[in-house]
Amino acid sequence: MKWKEQINGMKAYQPGKSIDAVKREFGLDHIVKLASNENPFGSSPKVHEFLAKESFNFALYPDGYATDMRAAVAKHLGVSGDELIFGNGSDELISIITRALLHPGVNTVMGNPTFSQYAHNARIEGAEIREVPLKEGNHDLDAMLKEIDENTAIVWVCSPNNPTGVVVEDTPLKSFLKRVPKDVLVVLDEAYFEYVTNKNHKDTISYIHDYPNLIILRTFSKAYGLATFRVGYGIANKDLIAKLDPVRGPFNNTGLSQAVIQVALQDQAYIQKCREENTKGKEQIEAYCDEHDLHYYPSDTNFVLMEIKADSDVVFQKLMQRGFIIRSGNALGTPGYIRVTIGTQAQNEGLLAQLTEILKEEGVFS
Ligand SMILES: Cc1ncc(COP(=O)(O)O)c(C=O)c1O
Repeated sequence: MKWKEQINGMKAYQPGKSIDAVKREFGLDHIVKLASNENPFGSSPKVHEFLAKESFNFALYPDGYATDMRAAVAKHLGVSGDELIFGNGSDELISIITRALLHPGVNTVMGNPTFSQYAHNARIEGAEIREVPLKEGNHDLDAMLKEIDENTAIVWVCSPNNPTGVVVEDTPLKSFLKRVPKDVLVVLDEAYFEYVTNKNHKDTISYIHDYPNLIILRTFSKAYGLATFRVGYGIANKDLIAKLDPVRGPFNNTGLSQAVIQVALQDQAYIQKCREENTKGKEQIEAYCDEHDLHYYPSDTNFVLMEIKADSDVVFQKLMQRGFIIRSGNALGTPGYIRVTIGTQAQNEGLLAQLTEILKEEGVFS
């Protein structure tokens, strides 16, 4: 068959192992998954109450324009409805954006390591990928600017960056946005926005009015604890949204998802509580790293990329045998490190206790 040449040899996205798969493989009853940066507290109790009492007509297609969810998100952000585009997770927005702009003959600029789906989608479209090494876990924006030329169509800024957790502060971000040519789309992926505590980071929403070539991506999969419902959104000026919208599938968010998002948005106290718990959990993991002289990146997310001074795959495998699923740095372009999602205090304690045992076995701790 006449496959796109670039698809040959490509592999499907490799998610962290599922809880059921690990239970089966190791004969364990209890597994803690700290691999995919999900909210360990789940979603707002209001969502559960809503789902218990509401019924839905599953035979009907959902509202393809997501009118009510759009109005609720627009109100929450203080933007207008035509400044939003919804995706089946922000993953789908990444593929919509690449499909709209990338093809053989153009290039796209991104950090390295960063979220794998930018390069994955660019590869499918046959575009040249220009990866710029991070500097101390953060985007090297000046070096990225140097990579932009007349054939650049998209530049990706993941802030905070996955897998390092480091956020781009406001001053360098604005200076970068000013200097990117106006015919290059800047994708600012803020999947972890709700977890940011860095005082030098500002809410970027108003920048869509200053920079017509900017789209900001956010998601309900992380702090809102709604990854199952697959809703991410892009915020940009309305002309940019109008260009992207025809590339979107017709009914890409289910009716159930649209209803749930509206309920979840009303419980901002819950998001605040999760943010506070996350900060405590982050301090717990950072204190462990400090105590054991293990390097970590300053995280503004619900995960920490920490050094282990041992083979990442070995530590990953041994933690899994003991019931903890994390991500090996080898799979993320950061050998010698592991990425752990910040769990509840008890989950973090359990993880760190097992890690101590493993690092003793590996001869890292005496
Ligand atoms: C930086 C970043 N962007 C986007 C996504 C995709 O999130 P979703 O498709 O669930 O909205 C993730 C998920 O891990 C992520 O880490």
